[in-house]
Amino acid sequence: MERILVIGSSGQIGSELVLALRKIHGGENVFATDIKYPPKEVGKTGPFQILDVLDFNNLLHFLVRHKITQVYNLAAVLSGNAEKIPLQAWDINMKALMNTLEAARQSDAKKLFWPSSIAIFGPTTPMEETPQLTVMEPNTVYGISKLAGERWGEYYHNRYDIDFRSVRYPGLISYKTEPGGGTTDYAVEIFFEAIKKGMYECFLSEDTGLPMMFMDDAINNTIKLMDCDSSKLSLRSGYNMAGISFTPKTLSEAIKKHIPDFSISYKPDFRQAIADSWPASIDESVAIADWGLHTEYDLDRMTAVMLEKIREQLEEA
Ligand code: SER
Repeated sequence: MERILVIGSSGQIGSELVLALRKIHGGENVFATDIKYPPKEVGKTGPFQILDVLDFNNLLHFLVRHKITQVYNLAAVLSGNAEKIPLQAWDINMKALMNTLEAARQSDAKKLFWPSSIAIFGPTTPMEETPQLTVMEPNTVYGISKLAGERWGEYYHNRYDIDFRSVRYPGLISYKTEPGGGTTDYAVEIFFEAIKKGMYECFLSEDTGLPMMFMDDAINNTIKLMDCDSSKLSLRSGYNMAGISFTPKTLSEAIKKHIPDFSISYKPDFRQAIADSWPASIDESVAIADWGLHTEYDLDRMTAVMLEKIREQLEEA
């Protein structure tokens, strides 16, 4: 029986991942922790505790006391926010990872998921169908921390036999919990603004292509990777995940099919440079071959679900 700890359970990924894991393993076996309180559903369906992953002793104590076997560590300062506080963001992102790797080594929580990102690529990377293994010269604090993190994860696997697994998430699109401080956040904000105001001012230019993925696909594939037999995994850094590639303009056109009066304007800010340094599309063939990465949502299906669910949510509120 698995005993699972999710660190960062109040965030965009964590709040949905906890619920999905509890359906599989039972509420009492999936421990949710964060430094802030989680959405209601997370609190209602199983244990939640305030826990700061930067506090190593507390983290190790938690793993031992609750006999944790698997950890998903989702705590991070995202790309846009990290550029505002570079040294602090580096400290937080790296310490959060190093503490979980070390705590895994010193406990029975040997299986560890940690999210990498398309941010590990940089301006010198081939921008279309970016291969799994290619030039990686990220020029953002977030990207540098994710690339370093992949290297450390692989190191702990090779040196200490930690079962480290990771994917390079594209921008993640969800309606339950909004992201905070990322460069791909526009693709979530746009849906809320389209419904509330019928218009959106985008902080990226209209032709900025980026890979994105609907949250259900991200969660299902994350769990699939964690459930996969370890003999099938040919790499222990982060697997490329492609999702759907689109620009703000194409997304706005997909929204207009449902809200014909919707209008979008563009006012690029500092996040434009970050987006310009990231790939427009990704080659995910290694993940498909190794553990069967599979996505179900294309742009139109995702757009329809996002609009429907956000409307329902706003009506209930
Ligand atoms: N979605 C993240 C960000 O924009 C990238 O991993 O920071």
